Amino acid sequence: MKIVETVAEVREQVKAWRKEGLTVGLVPTMGYLHEGHQSLIAKACAQNDRVVVSIFVNPTQFGPNEDLESYPRDLEHDAALCESTGAALIFHPTPEEMYPKGFCSFVDMNVLTKELCGLSRPVHFRGVCTVVSKLLHIVQPDKAYFGEKDAQQLAVIRRMVLDLNMNVEIVGCPIVRESDGLAKSSRNTYLSPAERKAALVLSKSIFAGKQLAEAGETDAAKLVQAMTKIIEAEPLAKIDYVKVVDLMTMQQIPKLDRPFLAAIAVYIGKTRLIDNFMMQAG
Ligand code: PAJ
Repeated sequence: MKIVETVAEVREQVKAWRKEGLTVGLVPTMGYLHEGHQSLIAKACAQNDRVVVSIFVNPTQFGPNEDLESYPRDLEHDAALCESTGAALIFHPTPEEMYPKGFCSFVDMNVLTKELCGLSRPVHFRGVCTVVSKLLHIVQPDKAYFGEKDAQQLAVIRRMVLDLNMNVEIVGCPIVRESDGLAKSSRNTYLSPAERKAALVLSKSIFAGKQLAEAGETDAAKLVQAMTKIIEAEPLAKIDYVKVVDLMTMQQIPKLDRPFLAAIAVYIGKTRLIDNFMMQAG
């Protein structure tokens, strides 16, 4: 496995693979990899001849008061995980390589990015769309892999690829959880032991919502109410949102009569965590 920092080196390697007729998968990440990321890399390795993992803490998707500086980083650990899982190349660019002096082009999106996380993180999806389209242009993979953990991000990227005629298949991968239910996240490392315990309200709320929907509840407000109640019982938790939206458009719906996403964002102390479930109702 190779680790490279420049766009030119990635292009050269991918060109050589293409000459051999090999297929290429891309897994975009911000590093500090855990079993959630690893499941994407493993799936990519199973479905492609060569896999590129990008590791880049993308400054444009962080707001001014967010955790860009403190976001955890550990390239040595990440490299070992990528290599043991079967990746062939890590692309680990500097911010200057991705955003050279004078950079001023962005990919922006309406509708889907104006709900859920887009409300409390207004510049976030512009940064995600911009960096993901850059990575797709640099690597030109056959398939790119994204986790359902970030369900809105997955929907936004599917929409961007459709709208901008990008020649890549987007593959969604299920949420990987800790044994007690908490969705794995690089940000879980911010939690104190007491907060780590309190963070269990997220998955508890998600599992309860899912159970209700599976039992036949079709009123979105009832689902939101039941999920909210569970989170509110935890003193360390502060709700950002609990919402039910159309899976394609990310717009709120009153009835569970179509494929939907139930999504939550909750502050545990200073750490903002997200979780969700999707269902093909209707
Ligand atoms: P990051 O948070 O590092 O996540 C990289 C990918 O791993 C995303 O597609 C995310 O959904 C997936 N992932 C994270 N935790 C997961 C879990 N517990 N189960 C399954 N998949 C999980 O998402 C980003 O980086 C960035 O926004 C990025 C797309 C790289 C653009 O900068």
